[in-house]
This record gives sequence, C-alpha cells and structure tokens, in this order.
Amino acid sequence: MVKEESSIHGMWSSRWAFILAATGSAVGLGNIWKFPYITGENGGGAFVLVYLLCIAVVGIPILSAEVMIGRKARQSPGNAFGAIAKSQKLSPWWKGVGWLGILAGFTILTFYSVVAGWSLAYFFKAGSGAFIEKSPEAMGEMLDQLMQDPQQAIIWTFTVILLTTYVVGRGVHKGLEKAVSTLMPMMFIILCVMVVYAMTTGHFSEGLSFLFTPDFSKITAEGVLIALGHAFFSLSLASGMMAMYGAYVPKEVSLFKTSVAIGLADTSVALLAGMAIFPIVFAYGLEPGQGPGLIFVTLPLAFSQMPGGLIIGALFFLMLVFAAFTSAISLIESSVAWLVERTGLSRSKAALAAGSLVMVISIGPALSFSLLSDTTLFGKTFFDLFDYVTANLMLPIGGLLMAIFVGWQMSASSVAEELNLSKTMMAFRIFIFIIKFIAPVAIALVFLSKLGILN
Ligand code: PHE
Repeated sequence: MVKEESSIHGMWSSRWAFILAATGSAVGLGNIWKFPYITGENGGGAFVLVYLLCIAVVGIPILSAEVMIGRKARQSPGNAFGAIAKSQKLSPWWKGVGWLGILAGFTILTFYSVVAGWSLAYFFKAGSGAFIEKSPEAMGEMLDQLMQDPQQAIIWTFTVILLTTYVVGRGVHKGLEKAVSTLMPMMFIILCVMVVYAMTTGHFSEGLSFLFTPDFSKITAEGVLIALGHAFFSLSLASGMMAMYGAYVPKEVSLFKTSVAIGLADTSVALLAGMAIFPIVFAYGLEPGQGPGLIFVTLPLAFSQMPGGLIIGALFFLMLVFAAFTSAISLIESSVAWLVERTGLSRSKAALAAGSLVMVISIGPALSFSLLSDTTLFGKTFFDLFDYVTANLMLPIGGLLMAIFVGWQMSASSVAEELNLSKTMMAFRIFIFIIKFIAPVAIALVFLSKLGILN
C-alpha cells in the first residue's frame, strides 16, 4: 500500500484539532448522562476505580490501535481495513470489520439523536422556567410527556440530525473542526462552572467521597463488566469513528501519546460531571442510584429549588447538547466519507443522503415511546433493539476483531511504525501484549456476560 500523506476528505489542521475532535466524539451522553447514574447504581468509588483501570488497561490501547488503522489507510473504515489487509496479504474479509463499524456508528446515531433531542428540549425547558416549583411526580411526568408525544419526539430528533448533517456536509476542516473547536471549549467551561457551583452547595466533600472512596465490598462481577462495556462506549471504540478521525491525523503526530491524552480527557470529563452532579444530588436529598432518570428527572428537581437554578439548569442542558452533538457528528462522518469514496458524490450531497437515511430510520427509535411502543422485534422496541444490538453485539464483536487484526494479523513493525513507537520500546511491548491477550479476553468476557451466557 502506498503511504498517503493526506486523505481526500481533508485533514485536521493540528494535533490539537484532532485531540478536540476525538475528545468531542468520546465525550457525550455517555459521560454526563450515563457515567454518573451507573456509578450511582454500582456503589460509587469502587466502581470508579474499576472503570479507570478499564480505560487505562484496555480502552487506551484499543483506541491507539483503531486510530492507527485509520491513519495508515487514510480512508473510511469501510475501505481502510481492506486496504491494509491487501497490502499485508491478509484475507480480504477483514474489510468486514470496517463495515461493521460504519453500520454500528450509523445505527447508534438513529437512537443517540433521540436522546440528544430530549437534551435540546430540556435546554429550552430549563431556560423558560419549566422546572420551577414542580413536584417530583410532575418532573417525571414532564419527561414522559416529552418522550410520549410523537410530534415532539420527531421534531427534536430531526433537528439534531439536520444540524449534524449540515456540519458534516461542510467538510473536515470547515465543518467538523470548526464545530468542535467552538463547542468543546464552551462545554468544558460550562462543566467547570457547574463544578464550582457544586462546591458551594456544602455537600461537595460528600460528593467527592462518594466518587473517590472505594468500598471494595461493593465491587461485583456485574459491576466490572458494566465498567468495561462503558469504557468502550465512552471512548467511542469499535464504531469505526476513531479510525475515521485517525485518517485525518497529520503523519508527524505521535498516535500513542495522543491516544493517552484523549483517554485522559474523556475520563476527566466523566469525573468532573460526577463532581458537578453528586454534590447537588446529596444537597437536595436525592437518590444517587436512581438510574437513567438521574439527570432528566432528579437534577431538574434540584435546579427548581436552588438559587440561580434557571441559569444553572439551562447551562447544564446546553453542556449536554454540545457534548452529544460533537459525538453525533462523529457517528455519521464515516458513512459520509465512505459514500464519497464509493460514489464520488460531493461531500454535501453525501451528507444529505446519509442524513436523510438516518432521519428515516430514526423514526423507529423516536416513536418507540409513543406510536410504536407496541411494535416490537425480539420483545424490544426499535429504540431498545438498536441500543442493544450496537452496544452488546456490534461494538464488542468489532472491538474483538480489531484487536485480533492488529495483534495477530498485521506485521508488528508496521504497527509500531504507525504508532510512532519502535518495536523494542517498553511502551510498544506492553501495547502489543494487551492487544494480543488482555483486550480480546476482556472483550470476550463482556460479550458473553451481556448475552447472559455468564450470568
Ligand atoms: N462516546 C460517546 C458518548 O460517550 C458515544 C459514542 C459511541 C460516540 C460510539 C461515537 C461512537 O456519549
């Protein structure tokens, strides 16, 4: 394979732009919505510790492997795996791993945009004072109403998809890079404001000790598996997108070091989100382990009672929208790039085509709580089915195959070279050991347990 210096889709203008974009993809609903509530459900500090271990030991090495594949091939994952397999005389079937990733990203977007749509709706609700003086029941009803109104569900979901399509249609540099370099710093500033606010609640230390004091009696096998699965989702692994973003990385950037930076940034945001949310939860006597409603039902309750809650609440949901949006654009980018490579369509037309298809398919998940709540396949609504199939099947299978491809199939020297490491370096030896042995075993365990085989 001829080593391309750049991709036909464009390039990130710097290492920093790549870090922002990849962190933008990684930081999303997973960090701000899911991480706090699964930490709450799984007992706090001990779970956090296991999660950090999963990020460091499995997440970051797989992240480096995926970005490495993208940069080596400089194409969408649909073509990247095939191109590398061909140049290294491996089976052409490996291209299936890339397609699996593209399909996973595309499918995730069809339900991710529904939750991103709720976040957008909640931003407007918060700003217009809809949380003021609501009882806990009324707060629950407000979320139900939003989810169960077909018209609203479609409008908010489509709005998110249209904005996503627009940004991706403008290209890597003018669209993606511009969006992440505006939204990510704003998101981070809002998060810091939220943490500072949490310090003033008088329950900050309680929040910190919940997050950081491990009670090892609370670690369960199930908790370990949830932590590992979440490490995958949170770092956006195995969905083709890290390979896609990797294709736009300038060649002098050290991929290994940069992947460590992205992993650290994603984890810091999850921890900061926890530090912003739990003190508020404790200050208002709310329940940390109450599940997915934590930020849509519990927090608005706190916002409704606190001084300045209108602004803090609106800022919180704005932060959530920004975080979700920078993930949404990454979810469709590889489909768009693949269409451009395959059909020669202009980027804006390819984005429109991919965006329209996402919109049509998203009708299923968007209406899963209303008109289509009784339309089920394997006993699951579209929303649950798409979530289940991507998180529990496509991502783990994709991750496993990718680890096998990089660890057992590609030549070690080409892997080392692309990672800007040398084969004899300690960092590379550890990396390859993890990719060959630790990661596949860990993923297989998660996979089997999610399928209920280990339970
Ligand atoms: N990492 C994102 C989050 O935590 C979700 C995501 C998964 C984005 C896979 C892209 C690909 O919300």
